[in-house]
Amino acid sequence: MRSAAESALLETAARCLPGGVLGTVRFSDGLAFVVKRAQGSKLYDVSGREYIDYLLGSGPMILGHSHPAVVRAVAEQLGRGTTYFLLNEPIIALAEELCRAVPCSEQVRFTSTGSEATFFALRVARAYRQRDRIMKFEGGFHGSHDYALMSVAPKSPKAFPAPLPDSAGIPHVVEGEVLIAPYNDLATTEALLAIHADELAGVIVEPFQRLIPPRAGFLQGLRSLTERYRIPLIFDEVVTGFRFAYGGAQEYYGVVPDLAAFGKIVGGGFPLAAVCGRRALMECLDPSRVGTGEFVSQVGTLNGNPVAAVAGLATLAELRQPGTYETLRRTGAVLKDGLADLLRRSGRPAQVVGEATVFDVVFTDRPIGDYRSMLTADAELLKAFNEECLKRGVVKGEHKLYVSLAHTDRDVERTLDAFRGALSSLPA
Ligand SMILES: Cc1ncc(COP(=O)(O)O)c(C=O)c1O
Repeated sequence: MRSAAESALLETAARCLPGGVLGTVRFSDGLAFVVKRAQGSKLYDVSGREYIDYLLGSGPMILGHSHPAVVRAVAEQLGRGTTYFLLNEPIIALAEELCRAVPCSEQVRFTSTGSEATFFALRVARAYRQRDRIMKFEGGFHGSHDYALMSVAPKSPKAFPAPLPDSAGIPHVVEGEVLIAPYNDLATTEALLAIHADELAGVIVEPFQRLIPPRAGFLQGLRSLTERYRIPLIFDEVVTGFRFAYGGAQEYYGVVPDLAAFGKIVGGGFPLAAVCGRRALMECLDPSRVGTGEFVSQVGTLNGNPVAAVAGLATLAELRQPGTYETLRRTGAVLKDGLADLLRRSGRPAQVVGEATVFDVVFTDRPIGDYRSMLTADAELLKAFNEECLKRGVVKGEHKLYVSLAHTDRDVERTLDAFRGALSSLPA
């Protein structure tokens, strides 16, 4: 039952926030709730209800909420000041750790959000290559800036490489700056590069696109093509960074880009993200280049924030403990395989798509390898499934489940029970 206090908060939110929400996460009226607190794998709402959380703050909370090591580090830092706009010990240590952990990272520039990290990675690529256009993949998400919101979720996709903007308010000229290629289709990408290589500043890709793993050879092929044409390759590791492996997707898949954007986990639940990359490109950010025509301007009030840095450092220290990634993948595999088994038994045309630590159900039996195959999925059924899960105390993203180290065997058992109940309540 929703309490009077929670109903009042939802009314205030509906009045003061557009759509009553913070972004895109919107539950139907009867299921909306307001978070009061979070601990480990659980969220608690203002009415006192408990939820097993697979949204995890949209990914950062890989250790679970309020992890003692992170809380301790943040509490200690709070007494030392919360932001300086100057070099500080924690942010230098975090930069050094990124250089140690991430194969492509010789230098790091911090931002506050993942969107800024991809935006500035593209700007660095343009300055370095002295070209303007970028290539991205249909269905790939790189945040909410104008260059990123192109053909992320087109309802009726155009012929490649024409983009479709995903938002009102983006100047039409930006459409001319972005070329769209099909993810996991190396032959078409190669053909597009053969025509457009000389105009391109960079190619940006989510190495694991939303839920879709790269086909064998796709990332390697993309690396060889971009090397052949000397076009910087940018991995958007905002989701995969420190999740797929300590060194991110580039370690996991064994393909090293020129630049990478990190976010989410690296800030330990605080606003911090980063552009990392080869020194030759990152040096465009060096202020001694001002006036050379190669200098990339990038500055932000909260960039290099020490509170976020200590939260990130404490999170990374936990992730470096022996066996961490094995544990995370084992928990995820039990849940993912359990869900796949339930889907098989249900007899529905559906499958689980993703990796053990990030996956979701897709209601189609068509093989999934790119954005267009995803369009064959029954979106209404997924929405109904998400709501049935929520009724049973399981919170997941609209199109994604994130697994954390805080999820216990008991959580997984309870979640699989919720999945079973949710599937049996769906319309035939
Ligand atoms: C792959 C990817 N890139 C970039 C972003 C944008 O990050 P932020 O929300 O921190 O701006 C996201 C956010 O979910 C993401 O999933």
